[in-house]
Amino acid sequence: MRQALALLSAVLIVGCGAPEVDRAPGPSDDGSAVLASFPSNAPDHFGFGSDASAARVAMWDIDVKPDGEGLPPGSGTVAQGQRVFLTHCVACHGATGTEGPNDRLVGTAAWEQWPNGQTVGNYWPYATTLYDYIRRAMPQLTPGILTSNETYAVVGYILNMNGLVPADAVMDAATLPAVEMPARDRFVLDDREGGPEVR
Ligand code: HEC
Repeated sequence: MRQALALLSAVLIVGCGAPEVDRAPGPSDDGSAVLASFPSNAPDHFGFGSDASAARVAMWDIDVKPDGEGLPPGSGTVAQGQRVFLTHCVACHGATGTEGPNDRLVGTAAWEQWPNGQTVGNYWPYATTLYDYIRRAMPQLTPGILTSNETYAVVGYILNMNGLVPADAVMDAATLPAVEMPARDRFVLDDREGGPEVR
């Protein structure tokens, strides 16, 4: 019994000693110490994964710039967009884009409502961002299900509900960048270069 206790306390004492473990590199650590501790017989590479094909890269390369660069071919009308909206968006954004339960999409008044009242009509500086955002993020539970034509169409419908394009508008890579957004002048380009200047 006494022997067992002695053994136990020895184990406890050993157990309390600070163990020597490799720490993950901290923010100011370039990781070279950890790399140097790898066994010298580690292979150059492990053969995991495969090269990203051009088609796969293209699936991720979907950003649309403010001037419309990156917009895909295709087009959609406001009327078609209404059908897309009523099928895929109305449950979360309401019949007129104002009822929620999620973000209000429609409304040109009331910059004063900030920070809770931003809409596409009073806050978004570029119409092209709508295409980019909806294509990558909406409908929220199933993003990616809309075709290019459906996306152009629902963008047109949201712009029309905001009074920014007429009911017979056709949205495509040429017409969308030409839409003038009311909030355009409320933003400036961020041309900071890492210095202290703040605009
Ligand atoms: C399941 C609910 C849901 C559905 C369906 C849905 N949305 Fe959304 N939507 C959201 C939520 C939640 C946000 C806010 C997301 C955030 O802030 O990160 C949002 C945000 C947005 C915004 C940005 C609003 C802003 O001013 O910031 C747009 C535009 C939008 N949705 C368009 C659409 C369109 C178009 C559809 C249909 C194709 C759609 N949404 C379907 C839940 C939904």
